[in-house]
Amino acid sequence: MPGDKSITHRALMFAALAPGVSAIDGALTAHDARSTAAVLRRLGASISPLRPGASVAVRGLRRLQRCAETLDCGNSGTTIRLMLGILAAHRFPSRLTGDASLRRRPMGRVTEPLDAMGAHTELGSAAGLPITIRGGVLRPLEWSLPVASAQVKSALLLAGAIGRVSVTLAEPGRSRDHTERLLLAFGFTVQRHRDRLVMLPTGSILPFDLRIPGDPSSAAFLIAAALLAERGDARIERVGLNPSRTGFLEVLSRMGATVASTNVSASAGEPVGDLVVRPAQLVGTTVLRDDVPGIIDEIPMLACLAARAHGTTRFEHVGELRVKESDRLGLLVRNLVAIGANAAVDGDDLIIEGTDVPFAGRAITGGDHRIAMAFTVLGTQRGQRITVDDPACAAVSFPGFADTLAGLFGRRP
Ligand code: S3P
Repeated sequence: MPGDKSITHRALMFAALAPGVSAIDGALTAHDARSTAAVLRRLGASISPLRPGASVAVRGLRRLQRCAETLDCGNSGTTIRLMLGILAAHRFPSRLTGDASLRRRPMGRVTEPLDAMGAHTELGSAAGLPITIRGGVLRPLEWSLPVASAQVKSALLLAGAIGRVSVTLAEPGRSRDHTERLLLAFGFTVQRHRDRLVMLPTGSILPFDLRIPGDPSSAAFLIAAALLAERGDARIERVGLNPSRTGFLEVLSRMGATVASTNVSASAGEPVGDLVVRPAQLVGTTVLRDDVPGIIDEIPMLACLAARAHGTTRFEHVGELRVKESDRLGLLVRNLVAIGANAAVDGDDLIIEGTDVPFAGRAITGGDHRIAMAFTVLGTQRGQRITVDDPACAAVSFPGFADTLAGLFGRRP
């Protein structure tokens, strides 16, 4: 599996802030990870090229250096939001932008609390990108997050950790906790009291060696392909099994699939293991509001699987999908209907009625990697005729996706 995208962004950022040389193995080499590396290089860190199979060497600085040019975050929401947190604690101005998809995504959810901490942000025209941020002397923050977002949470924790002030957050749901785990490893205090998260700046970021696990969100596409297959089984090795990322396995188990984990061990503060999966006849389920943060990136694939399950699947309160790399809610329904499935939106809920009619038609990705991979996987089932308008955009998070998928079916790439 390609390296975990969320952990790769964070590892590169922490390494860039550690005075000395860090080594990162198993890093994701996809476009999004390269966006983070490129931004950090512009700010003074030295980072070796991100190449499959190569360890990444990072020479960091205790403080990043001013860059007069605009920093391009590409398609990556994690890059821009986490970098805003880091730059909030640096007393110079920076300007950040991204591609057309990133320019339509909400940034106020990060800039408002950073301004409350003492940074100065200025959004571009129509409240979008580019953003200018001038870091300041920060104040402790107590903030109630309007959405359960790991990107927003991480931006604020990073601002506090680097600006050396405490951060207390009330969260409406549990999102992935990779930033908290890394902060703990560097001696920061991170405590959770029910829905409140408290970070005290007791640690310091020092050079480290880290091996990054495979990305469970990318593994989800191969698991789905194996579930839809007619026979055989698939073993997917060294997948990250952090409980804040494996919600899709719980949903799949409610849908009647068995995905077994073996060889589970801990690697640099994160659980990893192998997953074994066999074809299954799925049944519909209900996904509740509390499930959503833990499966946020897996909903496109789960929705496509639901189209093949017996009965109805309801994903409740998934309005957040509208502001992902594309309007995923809109595109999922549009594409599912276009290929002959039954899907509808009811307020913020997504409802899918399973069917076994053969699907045929064209899925529009809107440049969204996960929409592209979900419909490509659905098209691997025997008897389907699904085309995807831009399969290449999978490279945003999963380099070599088409070859890996073909390999799963025993076909040489
Ligand atoms: C991520 C958090 C999630 C997720 C994204 C990666 C992260 O976004 O969708 O792919 O690495 O923190 P939100 O924080 O917007 O939910």
